[in-house]
Amino acid sequence: MKILVVGGGGREHAIIMKLAESKQVDALFCAPGNGGIAKYAKCFPVKATDIEGIVALAKKLAVDLVFVAPDDPLVMGMTDALQAEGFMTFGPKKNAAILEGSKVFSKELMQKYHIPTAEYMVFQEPEKAQAYLRKKNQYPTVIKADGLALGKGVVIAQNEEEAFAAISSIMEDRIFGESGSQIVIEEFLTGPEVSVLCFTDGKTVKPMISSMDHKRALDGDNGLNTGGMGTVAPNPYYTAEVAQECMDTIFSPTIRAMQTENRPFQGCLYFGLMLTPNGPKVIEYNCRFGDPETQVVLPLLKTDLVQIIMAIWNGTLDQLSIEWKDGCAACVVMASGGYPKKYDTNLPISGLDENGQIDGCFVYHAGTKLENDRFFTSGGRVLGVTATADTLQQALDTTYAGVKEIFFEKAHYRTDIGQRALKA
Ligand code: AMP
Ligand code: GLY
Repeated sequence: MKILVVGGGGREHAIIMKLAESKQVDALFCAPGNGGIAKYAKCFPVKATDIEGIVALAKKLAVDLVFVAPDDPLVMGMTDALQAEGFMTFGPKKNAAILEGSKVFSKELMQKYHIPTAEYMVFQEPEKAQAYLRKKNQYPTVIKADGLALGKGVVIAQNEEEAFAAISSIMEDRIFGESGSQIVIEEFLTGPEVSVLCFTDGKTVKPMISSMDHKRALDGDNGLNTGGMGTVAPNPYYTAEVAQECMDTIFSPTIRAMQTENRPFQGCLYFGLMLTPNGPKVIEYNCRFGDPETQVVLPLLKTDLVQIIMAIWNGTLDQLSIEWKDGCAACVVMASGGYPKKYDTNLPISGLDENGQIDGCFVYHAGTKLENDRFFTSGGRVLGVTATADTLQQALDTTYAGVKEIFFEKAHYRTDIGQRALKA
């Protein structure tokens, strides 16, 4: 098979490395890819959001499958456009990707089908949102832009001033554009967070190994929210008992609800969960693999990923048994100093071998480029240094030993990835 992967971050690097293990794969392509991916797949400078460009590239390369990894092309309908041209795809169609594309849609779905989530209200007018908050006067409270916002559309307001500022910047200044035409205001939940990525063909749902993200920029969960500064898998809070409860009250009901609504979801559905004192609740749905969750989940997958993709395409996921390795994985993201705000790029990276790897670790490249056989930084999140081992402590030790070998100017990483999991 010839496969084109759409995207160009650490997640896509991990997907490509896993696809490369399959005996069914003859050639791998990526658009736009990055410096590390270029060592494993031929990369083409087509943007992940350029639907026409990707369809044209898929035709030119005569690929057998297009794997659409990021949220924005999925929400925009890239899968539909590719399928209309006869391509086999991995990733939900537009009418199912809306589960991530609109928080209002997802909240209304959960309410209609009694799927546990935070209590909420929807507002189209800032004045009404302010009046509601004034009356309620309960903090912290959570304010979310309806649409995609580069992972920055959620504000946890500690008081009225912060809440009103968030409403104003989302709805009036439109800092996230049309995504801010509506907002969700919801109850603040507490408890450990768990990411559960699930394979689903629209009827059957098969959870992958659970993971834990570390979203804040600084140690101790301080600083700004980021795309994710590190992950570990499995998540120790996600016991077999919790997993069963999630399957019964969240995963199966969601898949059935989407089927009932004539929006069958095929691909990877990511459940962002909070294990609250009143049971597991949905924080968010993502219509795709998580980043950097994928970097710790896929290395633990034993079953051929291409076989799983085919079963999803054919609607026969119920007949496939998916197997996982024992053990743990850890990923530490090395970011550009200043991320998630302003940062420099084009800084040379040293410590990597000619394939962009390092002894004992897989290094997934997120924001790198390759020039004259040297790697340079090109984004906020630069590298995801990852290791698997029998225990989480061992995986973390190997990962951090790897991190110490790598250098670029102003590199920033958290030193406490996995600490909360170790104390669970
Ligand atoms: P998201 O961008 O939807 O992943 O949200 C970012 C982060 O905000 C989540 O990982 C949670 O830590 C937090 N969050 C979102 N919704 C809530 C909520 N209702 N209660 C508490 N924290 C939340
Ligand atoms: N790591 C969170 C996400 O992929 O949305």
